[in-house]
Amino acid sequence: MPQEQTTFDLRRVRDLLGAQAGRFDVDHLRSCDSTNTQLLTRAERGSGAGTVLVADKQTAGRGRRGRQWHSAPNSSLTFSVLWRFTREQRLEGLSLGVGIAIVRALAGFGISELSLKWPNDIWLRGRKLGGVLVEVVHGTHGDMATVIGIGLNLQRHADWDETLGQAYAALDESQADLTREVVLAAILRELLAVLDVFSRQGFAALVDDWMRYHAMLGSEVSIEQSGLVRSGRCGGIDALGRLEVDTDEGLLRIFGGEVSLRRA
Ligand code: BTN
Repeated sequence: MPQEQTTFDLRRVRDLLGAQAGRFDVDHLRSCDSTNTQLLTRAERGSGAGTVLVADKQTAGRGRRGRQWHSAPNSSLTFSVLWRFTREQRLEGLSLGVGIAIVRALAGFGISELSLKWPNDIWLRGRKLGGVLVEVVHGTHGDMATVIGIGLNLQRHADWDETLGQAYAALDESQADLTREVVLAAILRELLAVLDVFSRQGFAALVDDWMRYHAMLGSEVSIEQSGLVRSGRCGGIDALGRLEVDTDEGLLRIFGGEVSLRRA
C-alpha cells in the first residue's frame, strides 16, 4: 500500500467506545490544515461538546509556541476534541489533565516508561512521543469552548530524524500493532473520566496523578520565558498546574503558555 493511502474505520471507534460512544461525535478527514483550526471554526458555529475530528494528514499542524507539528499518514495520530465549560470554570491545568488521560490510556496497553514533561509533552523513555495543544474560544451561550488537540507518533518516520531536529519516540518501539482507532478510543474514554473530575473539582483533584508521571521532578532545569532564562531545581506542580522551581531568587511558580523547560 502506498504510504499516503490510509483507511480509518469510524465504526470501529464507536464499537470500542461502547457505552461512551454517545458522548462523542467522531468525524474523520483525509486531509486538513489543522484539526484544531477546523474544530475552532466548528466551535464558533455551535458544534457540541464531544465533537472529535481526526485527520490522516495535516498540512499546517500546529504545536505550542507557534511551532509546526510534524505528522504523517499512517505514522501519526492527530485529532482534536471539542469540550465546553461554563464561564465560571477555571481552565488552568486542563492541558496537564489531558496528559494524564493519554498516559493512562497508553499504560492500559501495557506500555511502561511513560512520563509527562511539564507542561504538555508526553514522553516515552525520556523522548517526546506526543503533545497537547489546548485552545479556548468564547461560546455564544455564555460558555467557553475548548479545543483539545492531541498529536502522537505511532511509528517512526524517515523524514522526522531531520525535520524534528531532536530525538523523538514512537509507539511502535513498545507496541507495534496499535491502530489509530484503538488508541483514539482508549484516549477518548480516559479523557471523559479526566474531564468529568476536572469539571466537578478542578485541576486540584488531578495533581497527585500528574505528579506520578512527572518527568523532571528534582532535576536541575532551565526555563526560558520571553527571552529570560532562569535555572533551578524542578519541584512539583500546584493546584493550578503551575510548575514550582527552586531558584537562587526564591521559589518560582510558572504558568504553562509561552514557556520552554529543559534539563540544565
Ligand atoms: C506540542 O507538543 O507542541 C503540541 C502538539 C499538538 C499537535 C496536535 S495534532 C492535532 C491537533 N492539531 C494541531 O494542529 N495541533 C494539534
